[in-house]
Amino acid sequence: MCGITGYIGTGDCSTIVAQSLKNLEYRGYDSAGVALRNGSLEVYKQSGTIDDLTVPSMPSATCGIGHTRWSTHGAPTDENAHPHTDCTGQVAVVHNGIINNYEMFKNELCADHEFTSETDTEVIAHLIENALADTNDLREAVEQVVSMLKGSFAFAVTAVGHDGIVAARQDSPLVIGHSEDATFLGSDVTAFVEHTRTVTFLEDGDIAHLLEGDVTIVNGDKLVDRERQTIEWDADAAEKGGYEHYMRKEIHEQPRAVRQALSGRVDELAGTVDLDLSLSQEYCNSLDEIQIIACGTSYYAGLYAAELLEQYADVRVSVHIASEYEFRGDRDPWRTLVVAVTQSGETADTLRALRKAAGAGTRTLAVTNTVGSTIAREVDDTVYIRSGPEIGVAATKTFASQITTLTLVTIYLGRQRNALSSTEASNILEKLTAVPSAIQQVLDTESTVRRIAEEFADGDAFFFIGRRLGHPVALEGALKLKEISYDHAEGFPSGELKHGPLALVTDETPVVAILTEGTNADETLHNVKEVESRGAPTIGVTSATDPNPVFDTTLTVPKVGLMEPVVANVYLQLFAYHIAKRKGRSIDKPRNLAKSVTVE
Ligand code: M6R
Repeated sequence: MCGITGYIGTGDCSTIVAQSLKNLEYRGYDSAGVALRNGSLEVYKQSGTIDDLTVPSMPSATCGIGHTRWSTHGAPTDENAHPHTDCTGQVAVVHNGIINNYEMFKNELCADHEFTSETDTEVIAHLIENALADTNDLREAVEQVVSMLKGSFAFAVTAVGHDGIVAARQDSPLVIGHSEDATFLGSDVTAFVEHTRTVTFLEDGDIAHLLEGDVTIVNGDKLVDRERQTIEWDADAAEKGGYEHYMRKEIHEQPRAVRQALSGRVDELAGTVDLDLSLSQEYCNSLDEIQIIACGTSYYAGLYAAELLEQYADVRVSVHIASEYEFRGDRDPWRTLVVAVTQSGETADTLRALRKAAGAGTRTLAVTNTVGSTIAREVDDTVYIRSGPEIGVAATKTFASQITTLTLVTIYLGRQRNALSSTEASNILEKLTAVPSAIQQVLDTESTVRRIAEEFADGDAFFFIGRRLGHPVALEGALKLKEISYDHAEGFPSGELKHGPLALVTDETPVVAILTEGTNADETLHNVKEVESRGAPTIGVTSATDPNPVFDTTLTVPKVGLMEPVVANVYLQLFAYHIAKRKGRSIDKPRNLAKSVTVE
């Protein structure tokens, strides 16, 4: 995820800003840069690592902004690295998040502004240049520009002839640090934690003017007074936003990750989605089959999407574990679309399967988190899931983002193939946009889940069951638990219990059942009774308003239609996390596993 940093004060500005970029390195990035202000504005930026970036010592600089970029619009090149400047080179901007309506402004501005990058960010610099011609007040200029922008973002601006830094927050975090002789800015406190622990967290809609030792914050037309807080975290905890592990931080980032996946892509009223795909209506209608190839968690996201695609896009779907694809993947290449689902975009098994499909002349599409990854570069089309970097080895937020994005792909294909009416599409989109707050409701119950996890932690083995959309989530729940707690856990379709696994069920084997919309809950309930009669403790993860008293423990899922199993999965993530934590496991780096599996 991109990182913003800023400094104004009497210290060694260039060194402090350069160091703060190092502090933000953990967030993941593919380019970095700074803008330093003395009388003029000097910008240093480059793709690659921060160690590749030379920031010269500049004792005369008193104010600077910096950025680590994780590409979303445009490849990770020197030109696309932040800061971006206006035509005069007097205004510099660093930005996180997405500006949904940047293309409209870019088209308008192109007539008399020269653009040097492919980013959405650059329009902010040019719009501020125009606004400054009207007001000559940097904060007012930023206010004007923010009122024009749509999207979820945070940005910081510094400009020659204007004191300090102006920062704006809309859905993307920003925090200000205060010391006696300086003011700091960061996407999180890691940026400056070695200098001060006295901070102010900005809220959505805030625009802050940072001066040396002073800050003014406005929200709408009101001056606001945000409480200063003292952070107790050490640098390691600060990197994780105060969480003990990246995994827990990333579980909690899911509402924002899902929002980002949807941002600027949906028209809920019209029932349409815009994914910038080059798949024509004629091509979509000619499709006989979609083959999804993926591994691990991404494979389970693929299984989930398969049911949606068959139901709403009226197309046959086969889902392949990528390492098995070459043994059974042959189809008519002209009527088949191969969809590679991969967080990293580098998984060797998925890449090999993809190359096999592409080699046979099949059209390919990647659903990935990683701009510029090998798979993103090799496919015909890419849809990014926009989760931001996931550092914990266990995939969490990317599963939710993958399913959200694949649901958008489903709607796109369903509409193109006339298999889905605009009303049906609107209904699905309405449910999708409710997912972030539904996930938040689940996250708010974490202390209950922790207590339940601790109660069940000593089980001999754990079974996760569900039908239809509950099946991939049962598989994912079991994978999460086994990979971070090292406990034996299995997921399977509920109906399979009686065909073998039931032999393992005892009063020492907790069974977790997914019973939500899209999971044929009534049938799974019969299977729950089968395990209960063998003494197994049961946990029901259910959206039923009148939960069946059959369960020993019930976890309630907010109602969001066919997205309910994705929300249920958040309980399973927290369950796995707290069992692993109780057992003192290496949660972010489980034994024997790697985040990106680049060997076959
Ligand atoms: O980067 P990918 O999505 O292609 O990775 C695939 C699997 O290795 C990955 O999903 C793995 O199963 C998870 N890290 C498990 O939590």
